[in-house]
Amino acid sequence: MKFLVLGAAAGGGLPQWNCGCPNCADARAGKIASSGQSSLAVSADGVRWSVLNASPDIRAQVQALPALHPRELRDTPIHSVLLTNGDIDHIAGLLSLREQTPFELFATGEILNVLGENRIFDAVSREKVARSPISVGQAFELQPGMQATVFPVPGKVPLFMEGDVVQTDLVGEQTVGVRLSDGNKVAYYIPGCAMVTPELKAQIADADHLFFDGTLWDDDEMIRSGTGIKTGRRMGHIPISGPDGSIAQLADLEAGKTFIHINNTNPVWQPDSRERAEVYAQGWTVAADGMEIAI
Ligand code: MLT
Ligand code: MN
Ligand code: ZN
Repeated sequence: MKFLVLGAAAGGGLPQWNCGCPNCADARAGKIASSGQSSLAVSADGVRWSVLNASPDIRAQVQALPALHPRELRDTPIHSVLLTNGDIDHIAGLLSLREQTPFELFATGEILNVLGENRIFDAVSREKVARSPISVGQAFELQPGMQATVFPVPGKVPLFMEGDVVQTDLVGEQTVGVRLSDGNKVAYYIPGCAMVTPELKAQIADADHLFFDGTLWDDDEMIRSGTGIKTGRRMGHIPISGPDGSIAQLADLEAGKTFIHINNTNPVWQPDSRERAEVYAQGWTVAADGMEIAI
């Protein structure tokens, strides 16, 4: 199985259009790499690709990766797109994939409802782009030679659908992780996860590689940095650090482990930070745009 990181950053990207935080300033100045918003491509044969979440940056992300370029007049190696939630950073890129070239679109019924309720997505021809509902726990063919299964992970409804009261540990169809298997290796992609539960740990126990929510280093990082008023958990994202964080909670998982969906405030973006050193010391890597991982 081959993976290509299309976008390692969380919603907003790095730099984010309106942010002058140290990371965004450094990315703007070229001192650290910039990063597009959350998306990962996977292929069993190195020819056909499935895009896991379609970010608002997908046009530039496809342009940057020759494996995703058309091979003839009106063509794409993108065989399918799978959505893991209805957040803007994961669905808005569908609008750039209009233009009448077929691919298959997989998502749970609840996520497809988000698209169905927003008529702008009808610009993506339903005749050319079949919307295929998938059920949690039921394997399906994501592309020839690759089976996928989605499973619920604790999360919340998309930000633009939040009401006055927001449940951040919803377990259902609105936020899912995906298990990918080519019959040889097993990988998991979980870009949004509010907490690591015993059910989640049992689900991912057979992983050869895990791509996991690396949004924030600290739960209160956005509050402390003056960039926001919400904790990570309120946003549906477990922090990397601390006793309840992902490094500690997933310490006994023996698999390749990569953080993806990283917010622009996260200190792991800085090559020389103590936080990045800690991530690598604990056996994790930090995704970057264009990174290739083969398992
Ligand atoms: C998230 O992952 O929390 C969302 O992408 C936030 C957003 O839509 O801005
Ligand atoms: Mn996001
Ligand atoms: Zn910033």
